Amino acid sequence: MIEIEVNNQKVEAEAADTILQACQRAGIKVPTLCHLEGLPASGACRICVVEVEGRPNLVPSCAYPVTPGMKIRTHSQRAVNARQTIVELLLANHPDDCLYCIRNGNCRLQGLAEELGVRQRRYVGIKDEYRLDISSPSVVRDPSKCISAGAACGCARRFRASPPSTSSIAAARRPSARSSARA
Ligand code: SF4
Ligand code: FES
Repeated sequence: MIEIEVNNQKVEAEAADTILQACQRAGIKVPTLCHLEGLPASGACRICVVEVEGRPNLVPSCAYPVTPGMKIRTHSQRAVNARQTIVELLLANHPDDCLYCIRNGNCRLQGLAEELGVRQRRYVGIKDEYRLDISSPSVVRDPSKCISAGAACGCARRFRASPPSTSSIAAARRPSARSSARA
């Protein structure tokens, strides 16, 4: 184990931890968007940036390893401002569709906009236009909702590499499993 400091508090971390893993184990919440447990970090969205003493730039906590004695600030004004700007830029190229969207009320992007107090449009431009992808009989894909974080592609790669067994799909479809998954 090694010792680091997060928000002026001593934290014990495993030598192989990322900053995010060490923070999560210590109960310190750092917002994330592209990060998915069990998938390699892509570092794509930069929502999880934190300030590390001695480093000139903010670092993505989900992809940055801890080192002994590292001093981290997870919610410095600079880090929070950067997260807010990232969300504002994502929303600038996102459809204003929340009320009609299946993810309404259960959406990480929406949750972050709320958490970061995004209340105005500072960035306005021409939005990319896409068509719904209905080529699959079971999945409808709306590319306009994609934030290019790579999480869905990572899940798809993992699914192709090791598809779940028929019994685990059946278990996931059971009503009791669905209600506990939503909880
Ligand atoms: S995916 Fe986009 S449109 Fe749908 S709820 Fe989230 S922010 Fe709103
Ligand atoms: S959650 Fe760390 S870069 Fe996206």
